[in-house]
Amino acid sequence: AAFNLDETLQFAIDLAHSAGAIILDGARKREQMDDVDWDAILKKNTADLVTETDQATERHVKEKIAERFPDHEFIGEESWAAGEEPKLGDKPTWIVDPIDGTTNFVKGFSFHCISIGVCYQQRPVIGVIFSPALQTLYYASSGNGAFRLSPADGGSPRRLPLAKRPAPLPSLKMAVVAVEWGSDRKRETIEKKTKAFATLCGDADAGVEGGRMVQGVRSLGSAALSMSCVAEGSIDMWQEIGCWAWDVCAGTVIVQEAGGVVLGSKADALSSLSSPDFGHVTPQILQGRKYLVLRAIGDTDKES
Ligand code: IPD
Repeated sequence: AAFNLDETLQFAIDLAHSAGAIILDGARKREQMDDVDWDAILKKNTADLVTETDQATERHVKEKIAERFPDHEFIGEESWAAGEEPKLGDKPTWIVDPIDGTTNFVKGFSFHCISIGVCYQQRPVIGVIFSPALQTLYYASSGNGAFRLSPADGGSPRRLPLAKRPAPLPSLKMAVVAVEWGSDRKRETIEKKTKAFATLCGDADAGVEGGRMVQGVRSLGSAALSMSCVAEGSIDMWQEIGCWAWDVCAGTVIVQEAGGVVLGSKADALSSLSSPDFGHVTPQILQGRKYLVLRAIGDTDKES
């Protein structure tokens, strides 16, 4: 069957809502639990979690997609964890994280979501990110702009970015930057991250060598929602090392359609935010593990 962008986007939005109901139900059940069974939810370590709700949500999404689009391919975080390793080919391919921000979900912090991306001919073309706890939906399809639908906006979609701010920002000093610590806590990784984050927020005039003194640093615990924040303009830049295609596929479309830039790298580029080996991530979205997402910053502050 021919690939229809509008029809597929609408299906993805409906799917995000039905999956959202499963996630909310899971969240309520977790609140009622007497105790957390940590052994059951630890994946790689205490900073990498998976719950029954992640798995149930992915099963639901996968089944609905197979029913409606039997010829489409599917790549999901939990199917991957269970040993499926499909390659990204030219067919429409759904790339899904059933709960992005699982730690937030487990702790009862509302900043978690389902992230549904679709690639066609190896390019991300549809992105749907829905936070059921915040009742906020972000969506985009290639060439048609990115939108937010939130109770805060009285129920009608608003085009992203939300605010008409002077762009690019005059300097990195005016930027709010989101970073993540990730689940890899080896000394080498933590030292590099600590150094990069100190450089971002330190004040060079007060003794921090190379300090950029950004306006604020955030660490929100969901790659997909951090990217949505860059798209809406509430965060100016987000950087992470160690995420997967399902964390960033949907967000890539949303950010790009909102006029932002998504860069990716396979190389070890952590120590330098402006590393030349960051390139446009499309269409190799599955190959990189390192991402830098931003809105235009630094026209007058060239070094940034
Ligand atoms: C994770 C979150 C987290 C990010 C990790 C992701 P998950 O997704 O987005 O913020 O630091 O890279 O894997 O495990 O909650 O689906």
